[in-house]
Amino acid sequence: MEKLMIRGGRPLRGTVGISGAKNSAVALIPAALLAESEVVLDNLPIISDVAVYSEILQELGAEVHRAGDTMRINPADLKSLPMPNGKVKMLRASYYLMGAMLGRFGEATIGLPGGCNFGPRPIDQHIKGFEALGAVVSNDHGSIRITAKQLKGAKVYLDVASVGATINIMLAASRAKGSTIIENAAKEPEIIDVATLLTAMGATIKGAGTETIRIEGVDELRGCRHSIIPDRIQAGTYMIAAAATGGNVLVDNVIPKHMEAITAKMEEMGVEVQELDEAIRIIGRPEYQAVDVKALVYPGFATDLQSPMTTLLTQARGVSILTDYVYGTRFKHIPELVRMGANIRVEGRSAIVEGTKLNGAKVKAADLRAGAALVVGALAVQDDITEITGVEFIDRGYDSLVDNLRMLGADVWRETE
Ligand code: EPU
Repeated sequence: MEKLMIRGGRPLRGTVGISGAKNSAVALIPAALLAESEVVLDNLPIISDVAVYSEILQELGAEVHRAGDTMRINPADLKSLPMPNGKVKMLRASYYLMGAMLGRFGEATIGLPGGCNFGPRPIDQHIKGFEALGAVVSNDHGSIRITAKQLKGAKVYLDVASVGATINIMLAASRAKGSTIIENAAKEPEIIDVATLLTAMGATIKGAGTETIRIEGVDELRGCRHSIIPDRIQAGTYMIAAAATGGNVLVDNVIPKHMEAITAKMEEMGVEVQELDEAIRIIGRPEYQAVDVKALVYPGFATDLQSPMTTLLTQARGVSILTDYVYGTRFKHIPELVRMGANIRVEGRSAIVEGTKLNGAKVKAADLRAGAALVVGALAVQDDITEITGVEFIDRGYDSLVDNLRMLGADVWRETE
């Protein structure tokens, strides 16, 4: 097991290039299984979630070759195998195998997904979607078994605008007979990315990125080449880290439009944010004002940035209230930030943060974004070392984190526990 050691107090300076989006990659890789020939994905992030997914695909009989940030997936010889245990338990996004295998073979048996555990993460809306398409869903010794003789297009109204359910239904519906309409669909950019890939594979999808998505099912999908969108959560994390250290950082290879909520909030705090065509420059200030933040579905403030944002708010003057309307118990970073001297209390789905100085401590990342919050905190601490365990969570979603931070001037290294 490794731990991350950070001696804080150095303002981050320079340029950081953002890799492809984790939450797109973990949907696009299973989506490729719907094709009958090779799919090439470019700009993949180099993170452990992608590595695990590529192993799962090989276990299912797909040919997978990786070189740098490109992955070639040939699912021509894919087999319809049950996946009750093993690697699917390591990933939250293994639930996309349900929609992909159902679309390709008319059946899927998948163990319940693992991944970051920051509270209840039901998949009832995914199941509701599969059932609407005519599938029968049962519990097979703790695994979910889904079968359909023939998937048929249908109208599905999602009770909550779930990213995972929207994508999973799109995957299955692209091979259903007739048209499917998803109402109250999630609008996250990753959904548009999946629709772009499926369209290049030969599917007909309209309205991705809006609350109504229409999918015309087709009999066969073919291989293609697709480049993944930049990771808006990694980008937001570097923006926050730059501000928290009073630095000056160009966050490169981003789509500024995807960053509007975090950009607006940081400006409201007094951070200087310059928007360029495909980059954002953050110029830190010695002092920030407290602000209130509401984490919502896209285009609202991303729940995945709520944890690192909590850390930035500890560096603001006054009291900020941060409320997560997507995951009301996503607060595993807070006891650890308190160990670092933060003054935060949780009330319901809100964290009340009073600005104060942070100090170094031994802390534990309990999930991916909680880990990111601790990294930001450790960088902001003046001249003290923070020891972060649970690095395996951070490695699930941050490509080249240590190298990137070092290039920005941070004093950070890995040690074996
Ligand atoms: N929900 C339900 N029923 C469902 C599905 C979701 O009630 O069937 C609820 C959830 O409990 C939550 C809300 O709907 O309150 C939104 O959940 P959503 O389904 O959108 O989340 P997800 O698809 O499981 C993705 C990201 C998460 C990110 C959320 C919200 C992936 C692989 N994961 O999860 O990313 O927090 O959307 O934006 O795309 C992360 O990257 O650290 C991460 C956890």
